[in-house]
Amino acid sequence: MSPRACDSHEERDNDSLKPETWFNTAQRTDTTTALKKKLYIKTYGCQMNMYDSARMADVLAPLGYAPSDSPEGADMIILNTCHIREKAAEKVYSELGRLREVQAGKAETGGRTLIAVAGCVAQAEGEEMLRRAPQVDLVVGPQTYHRLPELVARAERAGPGRGILDTDFPEEDKFDRLPEESRPQGPAAFLSIQEGCDKFCTFCVVPYTRGAEYSRPAADVLAEARRLVAQGTREITLLGQNVNAYHGEVPDGRGDWGLGRLTRELAEIDGLARIRYTTSHPRDVDDELIAAHRDVDALMPFLHLPVQSGSDRILEAMNRRHTADTYRRIVDRLREAQPNLAMASDFIVGFPGESDADFGETLRLVADIGFAQAYSFKYSPRPGTPASTVETQVPEEVKKERLAGLQQLLGEQQLAFNHRTVGRRLPVLLDRHGKKPGQLIGRSPYMQSVHVDAPARLLGRIVDVDITEALPNSLHGRVATAICESGADSAMDNQHVERAAI
Ligand code: 5AD
Ligand code: SF4
Repeated sequence: MSPRACDSHEERDNDSLKPETWFNTAQRTDTTTALKKKLYIKTYGCQMNMYDSARMADVLAPLGYAPSDSPEGADMIILNTCHIREKAAEKVYSELGRLREVQAGKAETGGRTLIAVAGCVAQAEGEEMLRRAPQVDLVVGPQTYHRLPELVARAERAGPGRGILDTDFPEEDKFDRLPEESRPQGPAAFLSIQEGCDKFCTFCVVPYTRGAEYSRPAADVLAEARRLVAQGTREITLLGQNVNAYHGEVPDGRGDWGLGRLTRELAEIDGLARIRYTTSHPRDVDDELIAAHRDVDALMPFLHLPVQSGSDRILEAMNRRHTADTYRRIVDRLREAQPNLAMASDFIVGFPGESDADFGETLRLVADIGFAQAYSFKYSPRPGTPASTVETQVPEEVKKERLAGLQQLLGEQQLAFNHRTVGRRLPVLLDRHGKKPGQLIGRSPYMQSVHVDAPARLLGRIVDVDITEALPNSLHGRVATAICESGADSAMDNQHVERAAI
């Protein structure tokens, strides 16, 4: 494996973008001097939303909006919402209730706080949101962020109580219309390459809120990746609701590249050490992608591949278009290509009609595969999705019990996986400060959070770390002494990862 190989993607705070990210980056833009208005964005849910929030801030910067870390006194507040799970809309409405006070406080000083609701709840609620929450000035769906400047100007003119709605799926491509320059994201960055989904799993709102599957042209993706690397990014996580359905137009316009080919091209970018992608669908794992896991050293040995259930009956009812055994075979092939691959997944328990035997199949699949990380959820009916109206809903108590059982098993697997890295030397991309003074946190190739005592100058570097302790959700380690003392930069960026099964 070449020294270019290695890991990680950062776990970002899912509630709001980190203030230090905002301030650091805002100061680096040319428009800083003109920035006068405070913009607070609260981001819910997935990394796609984190990415969209950053782009919304980019779009609004020329209007004089500068990111702020608190809603108090803000000139504009954006709630970038997620609709994927339970009570999403209700949570947004209660947040909007709390924000009335912020608006009132601002009004007392003679100012006005514009409130915008973006993201999937905005898309799903539409008009209803303006009716139920008249304090909202703007409701904007995920496909029209490029129109924000015009929409904000209209909302400013319209005055309170006359909310504006834009939840179109426009013909023009949102990515083409968003400004080219995004703010530096730091050592580990996200890059959105694909949006929407055509799979229509029967539990999921995404095809309705994000629309049809769309892939960005490969040339645009490569250009954005080069820009990120020029700004200091070492690791890029490619984002998409169905990222491995990627089929971006090739730079010469003749045909498409799949995700496997795209990662090969990205790996050629000098200075880009690590590539990841999320979230993928088993149906779209093709030969080319498997081969990329074998050949592309920069492609990290960690894969989040949601399976949802281990029962074929339930998988069919979910319209997943794969069986439990096809999933097992895909994982076998991936592990043949990259024996080091750590697997992660998503699970839903208590899908309508799920019996004890079906749930048992899920536990069996988990035992067979062995996951390094996983997210598991109780099924929650999402209005407008086919599964929500099925009569065989599973009682809450049963869902709760099954979730506890599944999480127990997944937790044991995660801890066991973490323990297997103790005593090993892993390359870690240090990408943020820890809570304790003198502490930095980074990611192992397998997406584990690794805490080390290290000088701040190592932030943004990939260092060898001797893993000393494993906890359920993180590792502790020591920066390898020889490297630390010599201070040799090249040695620090050596991120050799063995290809032995972990
Ligand atoms: N109920 C429970 N979990 C859901 N997910 C998506 N929709 C639902 C739902 N209606 C979970 C799936 C998906 C993850 C992002 O959220 O596991 O992979
Ligand atoms: Fe939702 Fe993923 Fe299914 Fe698409 S593939 S419908 S995003 S769960």
